[in-house]
Amino acid sequence: MILIRRAEPYDAAGIAHVHVQSWRSTYAGIVPGAYLDSLNEEERAEHWKSLLGEELEVFVAEREGNVIGFVAGGRSRDRAQHCDGELYAIYLLKDDQRLKIGRDLVRELAHALKRRGFRKMEVWVLAKNPAKAFYTRMGAQFGRSRQIEIGGVTLMESAYFWPDLDMVSRRYVVSRS
Ligand SMILES: CC(C)(COP(=O)(O)OP(=O)(O)OC[C@H]1O[C@@H](n2cnc3c(N)ncnc32)[C@H](O)[C@@H]1OP(=O)(O)O)[C@@H](O)C(=O)NCCC(=O)NCCS
Repeated sequence: MILIRRAEPYDAAGIAHVHVQSWRSTYAGIVPGAYLDSLNEEERAEHWKSLLGEELEVFVAEREGNVIGFVAGGRSRDRAQHCDGELYAIYLLKDDQRLKIGRDLVRELAHALKRRGFRKMEVWVLAKNPAKAFYTRMGAQFGRSRQIEIGGVTLMESAYFWPDLDMVSRRYVVSRS
């Protein structure tokens, strides 16, 4: 059974593990290998520990007590404020992708942001990441592009946005088998 629930401070290590492993499997061939090799789960866990105490909305997908995926979001970090809300990160372990867990995590986040009064949500995704198709499948629209530097190389990333959070939060699942 997979449980989707709000993240707790003790989830920091589990989230960091998923974050680093999923970065390595997702961005191999996109982001420089040396950068991916340098990612460190302990450091990431410390970072998540501090983030989990903040105003962030973070949900985890858990199977048999292990975190297998997470989503994080909150107020948009974009000064131009094209959208008030932002999906900051969503990552699943490779073996747990394409099982509709991502869909449920996004819906849970959208529902939480809507409860807090947010109306729209955007997400930035590397242009070479096939996950772009996931966001459009979830009802998001292409917004704009910009350059980003990761590990010493310049990459393109694209913003996708939901003009109305109801488009994603209408049906959401808390747990399922
Ligand atoms: C992107 C991610 C969160 C999607 O979650 P998921 O659980 O794998 O996706 P779901 O099973 O919920 O898929 C929902 C829909 O999106 C589609 N979809 C998901 N990933 C897709 C992909 N890479 N390419 C094309 N379509 C995709 C599914 O086919 C499904 O469509 P359907 O309803 O017609 O069957 C997950 O695959 C992941 O963690 N990927 C690696 C990390 C990553 O890229 N994160 C995003 C960083 S911006």
